[in-house]
Parts: sequence; C-alpha cells; structure tokens
Amino acid sequence: MSFAFAPTATTADALWAETADAAAALVAGEPDGIANMANVAALIWQAIPDLNWAGFYRFDGSELVLGPFQGKAACIRIPLDKGVCGAAARTRATQRVEDVHAFPGHIACDADSRSELVVPIVAEGRLIGVLDLDSPLPSRFSPDDQSGAEALVARIAGALAG
Ligand code: SME
Repeated sequence: MSFAFAPTATTADALWAETADAAAALVAGEPDGIANMANVAALIWQAIPDLNWAGFYRFDGSELVLGPFQGKAACIRIPLDKGVCGAAARTRATQRVEDVHAFPGHIACDADSRSELVVPIVAEGRLIGVLDLDSPLPSRFSPDDQSGAEALVARIAGALAG
C-alpha cells in the first residue's frame, strides 16, 4: 500500500488539520497501536516544520517507554515525575514549553532542543502515553500548534491505544 501525503497548508491550523485528516485515514481499520504511532510520527515529521524530534512515549502502567519516533535516538524510560513528558502524562494536560532550559527537570535527549510540545494521549479514561514534539527553535509552538496537536490526538486516540 502506498499513501500519498503532500501537505499544502500555510498556517499552523490548516497544516494540523491536513495532518489530522491524513492520520485518521491512515489509522482507519488498523488495530495495532504501535504501527499507528509509527505512521503518525512520520506524517507529523513530514508536515510540521522546524522539528528535531517527533514521536511517542507509551505508558506501561508505571512509567513512559520510548515508542515510534522520527529524530535522533532518545531516552528510553521516563518516570512520571521527570521531564516535560512526565509532567504531561502525570497531569494529563498538554505542556507547551517556550524554553526547555527554563523548565525544571527537563530531560535533554537532544541538546539541539529549545522548545517542546507534549500532548497526553487518553483513550476511554486510560493514559496511553504522550505525543512529544521538539524544536531547535525557541518558542516554536504556538497556541494554534497546541490546539492542532490536541485535536489530532483526540481524533485518533483509540487507534493509538491499539
Ligand atoms: N525532553 C523530554 C524527553 C524526551 S525527548 O525530548 C525525546 C522531556 O523532558 O520529557
């Protein structure tokens, strides 16, 4: 199967909407959550500019474990009381960090990262993991990026859960 994805939008809102449409189409009917995370990481990496890392951590019942991603090799396990990802998972609230150096406990997997957006994934009340986006640019992620990423995750959370 091939899947053509050629995002054309020029605003963050529209880019996220195109990416969410593509993600929903790609995960439709596929029950494997890891396969779906892998494809969604690839779509985001392709569509959203100025990222140095895009991917998933999965909640194993006690901590976050590295899942499918694009970018450099990263930290494998993140306790819920550590880092931006841990904060998003623990509070189940998106963390939009303008300057990772100013975030207490930020885990520097890639020294290039300057800003970060982490969206918790919850399906049927259960924490599945987080979507983690990193950028080498300070303050890369706008409120529109946050709402776009949240809408994408909400739309396909069940498919990411597997
Ligand atoms: N910076 C994250 C760790 C994951 S990497 O960025 C891929 C954090 O502080 O949770």
